[in-house]
Amino acid sequence: MSEQVGGKGSPDPRLVALFNYYRDAELRGANLLFRLMSHLEDADSQVKLSKHFQEETYHAWLWTKRIADMGGTPAKVADGYQTRIGLRVIPRNLMDILALTVVVEERSLQRYREHAARPEVDSETRKVLESVSRDEKWHISWIRGRLEQMAEETEDGVAKMNEALDRYREIDRQVYAELLEKEREVFGDVLALHATA
Ligand SMILES: [Fe+2]
Ligand SMILES: [Fe+2]
Repeated sequence: MSEQVGGKGSPDPRLVALFNYYRDAELRGANLLFRLMSHLEDADSQVKLSKHFQEETYHAWLWTKRIADMGGTPAKVADGYQTRIGLRVIPRNLMDILALTVVVEERSLQRYREHAARPEVDSETRKVLESVSRDEKWHISWIRGRLEQMAEETEDGVAKMNEALDRYREIDRQVYAELLEKEREVFGDVLALHATA
């Protein structure tokens, strides 16, 4: 039941759906990065954002390719992680957007690592999970660094930054709990055994 079939022609529809959620999160993450490019205009941020943006779109491609290789179909996702976050959050300023990006990237890394640790993961999927996880690590670190720099340059910035991070982490926890619940309904005990959040 928990076996992941990697060969073409017999995709597990639950896995195709899950990978479409990952694909959707990467595409929407790329969209957030693209918007940041018009706000962070210093040269260093532009260089890092360009690379970061390129990697998020590449992650979306890796999930698209994984879906296609399994014999599945890329599909629109109407109620994914980012959409659910967007229904609860209206970032008011640049510091808010950066704090939200940190929280979203942290969740992404945590989720991919948790998935990679499951014993039933097939080797092709594991390769994708490991590849995207490597990139997510530096995404978190440079965005967090840029956020901290902005906080130091802003009046009461550190307090505002911490308040924003706390606020978004709470929203992230609610959204991720909803998604885990949905996954448990679809996958049954397979996921309940491995879920960490
Ligand atoms: Fe990503
Ligand atoms: Fe990322």
